[in-house]
Parts: sequence; C-alpha cells; structure tokens
Amino acid sequence: MADSKNFLTIRRPDDWHLHLRDGDMLQAVVPYTARQFGRAIVMPNLSPPITSVAAAESYRNRIRLALPEGADFEPLMTAYLTDEIAPDEIERGHAKGVFTAAKLYPAGATTNSAAGVTDIANIRPVLERMERIGMVLCIHGEVTDGDVDIFDREAVFIDRILAPLTRDFPALKIVLEHITSADAVQFVESAGDRVAATITPHHCIINRNALFKGGINPHAYCLPVAKRERHRAAVRAAATSGSAKFFLGTDSAPHARHAKESACGCAGIFNAPYALESYARVFDEDGALDKLEAFASENGPRFYGLPLNEGTVTLRREAQSVPDQLEGELVPFLAGETLEWRLD
Ligand code: NCD
Ligand code: ZN
Repeated sequence: MADSKNFLTIRRPDDWHLHLRDGDMLQAVVPYTARQFGRAIVMPNLSPPITSVAAAESYRNRIRLALPEGADFEPLMTAYLTDEIAPDEIERGHAKGVFTAAKLYPAGATTNSAAGVTDIANIRPVLERMERIGMVLCIHGEVTDGDVDIFDREAVFIDRILAPLTRDFPALKIVLEHITSADAVQFVESAGDRVAATITPHHCIINRNALFKGGINPHAYCLPVAKRERHRAAVRAAATSGSAKFFLGTDSAPHARHAKESACGCAGIFNAPYALESYARVFDEDGALDKLEAFASENGPRFYGLPLNEGTVTLRREAQSVPDQLEGELVPFLAGETLEWRLD
C-alpha cells in the first residue's frame, strides 16, 4: 500500500471459535462478526445443545436469517459431543456439509456444558470415526475435578486427557481451543501437525490481575480463566510467532450485563465488535503486523482443509474508543478504552 505504516490490507479473515447464541441475542451479535469475518466456527452450546444434524441445520438457517442484508458470511456448524452421541450421526452431518467439526466439552467445564462428555472413554467410537473421515475435533481443554486448582485445569487436561488422546488417535485433527497457558503452547508446538490451537484476543491482552483490578471485574471473567502474566506472554508470543499451528478464534461469548454482574456471574467475554482491531493492537505492539494475515486468514482454513477466503479487509491506523455498552445490555471487551486501529 502507498502508506504501509498506517494501512494494513489482509485477506478476509475467519473466526475459528465463536458463540452466536440464539433468538434476540443472535440478532444483536451476528452483524459484528459478519462485518469482519468470512466464516466462523459456531459453538453448539445452546440450551438444549446442538446434538443432531437436524438441529444444526435449523440453527444454521436461523443464523443466516439473522444476517444483515448483503452480508457475505458462512456459519460453519459444530456437533456437541455427549456420552451417547452416535458415530453415524456425526458422519452423516459431516458428509452432508452440515458439521464442519465436533466439539468436546468435558461435562461441567463451562457455560451449557452439563450435557458434555463425562469420560473420554465414552466417545472413543466417535473419535475413531472422526479420525477415519478426517473431521476436526475442537476441544475445551479443562478438567473439572474440584480438587484441581482452576488456574491449573488446562495444564492438567493436557497431561491426563490430551496427551494420551493424541497417542491413541494419531491421525485425528485436533484444535485445542482458546489456549491460556505456556503449557498449552509448548504442547501444541511439540505435537504433530494434526494438532493446532486457537487464541483469543483477551488471552493475548489480559492476565488474571484483570479479574481483580480495583475490585472484582466480571467482564474479565471467561473460561478458561486468564492465567498469570508469564502465561499471557507465552500465548501472545505463540499468536504472533508466525507458526501455522496457531490461528484466530475469538471465543466471543456474549452474556447480558445483568447475567455477568450477578452473585454468580457467567463466564464469557464479548469481544466480537472490535475483534480484528484488538488483534491488530497485539500484533502491532509486538512488531508482527506482517504475521497477522497468516494468523487471521490462512492458518485456520489450511488446517481445516478449506479454501482461503477471497476478498480483503483493510485496517487503518486511527484511534477509536470502545463504547461502555452495546445493544443496550452487552459490555464489550476493552470497554472505555481506545483502540489504535479501525476496520474500514
Ligand atoms: C463460553 C460461553 O459463554 O458459552 N464462555 C466462556 O467463558 N468462554 C463457553 C466456553 O467457550 O467456554
Ligand atoms: Zn467458547
């Protein structure tokens, strides 16, 4: 570009981990994603969860209907794995182009995960099938045992569940989602090329101090919870490293303000409105703007075996402030702060 210091044009990006919800919330949030991203891997943790091809097709239709006119956005659907889900249903959905991936929530790990998997042994037939047909497994990588410290749950999951899983299913494509720890970075880097990870903007920007800064801050609470500074630095270095194993997944997870600011506030950070601008801040601060395109627009589709998007988006170096509140009741990530980049 003529003025390469102040403009950045990249291939249209995708979001490889997103919560769009349903109903009014879906209507409110989907335009923010569709304006930036060509596709998104849509999480199935609705209530009830998306556990059948029919449910995923009808959810996909509701998403398409909620899109602003003229939007060019493709929702990629996921199946919510349960102890009982049938390998045939997973394969049928994949063959039909409905299920792009399947999602493993350890039961009780996070929002709407109660119907998740109670023991990995229960889904072995499903994993065998997915390995055979080349379908991606997305993993929420946390153990749920009450005797494991919440800040250690990702590292313990890697040791107890993920490392054995990658040995037992060497050809299964696995995305360890929203990684938060140096342990996860190290595991993914040293695993084979069938293992990759997504990284959120918030885990690049905040450490666990954000949860307690000046008092308890529910809008900084998500799962996996932000870890200590050393882990944030490792995750951020992985994102900006240029390694093809790491790609963009916002984990934007909107909850109404009253549900966040409550005696038992929900986990989830709503970062969709300024997602690309937030990542741009990270890559810019680390002198890695030249690596943003691979992270946002290339590594993900290559891992999934999907074509790269056509078209481009342009970021401009121009300050903008993030509003305190959007859509009446949603508090966006970085509310009240100033971002250095703006999406044209
Ligand atoms: C997500 C949600 O609200 O659905 N919450 C979160 O903190 N990330 C669930 C999840 O991805 O863990
Ligand atoms: Zn999520």
